[in-house]
Amino acid sequence: MTSATVPTPHDLTITPRDRRFVRGEGGRRLWHGGRIEATAIYNALSATFPRGEAFFVESVRAHRDGAPAKLAAEIKAFTTQEVIHSREHLAFNRRAADSGYDLSKLEAQVLKRLSVTKSKPPIVSLAATMALEHFTAILAHQLLRDPSHLEGADREAAELWRWHACEEIEHKGVAYDTWLHATRHWTRYKRWKVKAKVMLFITRNFVVDRTAGALELMRQDGLDGPRAWARLIWYLWIRPGMFRKIAGAWLKFFLPGFHPWNEDDRELLRAYEAAQPAPVTEGTAVPAKRVRRARA
Ligand SMILES: [Fe+2]
Ligand SMILES: [Fe+2]
Repeated sequence: MTSATVPTPHDLTITPRDRRFVRGEGGRRLWHGGRIEATAIYNALSATFPRGEAFFVESVRAHRDGAPAKLAAEIKAFTTQEVIHSREHLAFNRRAADSGYDLSKLEAQVLKRLSVTKSKPPIVSLAATMALEHFTAILAHQLLRDPSHLEGADREAAELWRWHACEEIEHKGVAYDTWLHATRHWTRYKRWKVKAKVMLFITRNFVVDRTAGALELMRQDGLDGPRAWARLIWYLWIRPGMFRKIAGAWLKFFLPGFHPWNEDDRELLRAYEAAQPAPVTEGTAVPAKRVRRARA
């Protein structure tokens, strides 16, 4: 770690919130305000999570041996959070399938990308996870900071996305700290070079695949060609413009001394917690009894 790096706060606690969403009847096909493009991009993201997050867990756990006690405990909490996220996004994706979407093409694309990454040395999987975790953290920050991103969305679906965003912020340093630990004998230059290359590669695939996935789902809603492109680009880059709004935070990844916790955004977590209703509420997320074990 360089002297310019601010490490993960010593008083940070990573708390898995074992909640359940979107079970049972109800929910609209176009759950995001009746908007085809908004529903499509969130559904496209969700389609990647069950496989993607299982991959994150595998990649981080492959490097936990010899980790300091604090990092080892954080890896454990990270694993639990990601396993629960996968479970909830599986339920969310099931609901999308029940309402008529076919996610198989999107899921096949995720598997294809993962098999290429897994064919390389394990440190590449960790680097890819670290890069994608930066993506999820900056998307999560934006989602919680600016309510316009979920404006008009069905309440329970919006709750799922806010809950996930909160935990992504909370564990945003874990893959990065694991990477710092795993590459502690590398030179700073080698570390930076690999990390930058992987981030550029991941970004290209992320933007291309999520755009293609959203366009596929929009096509299933009867919208395609230039009109579909225009609506999606407007939504992602102009208003509410999620991709435009995360661009600055994305660039910071390339700065020497970058660490996800250089920006302490725990005020978003406190605001999230403060807005939570009592633990059991009618017809919405209820605490579950068990947490499924992580896959090794
Ligand atoms: Fe997650
Ligand atoms: Fe994550």
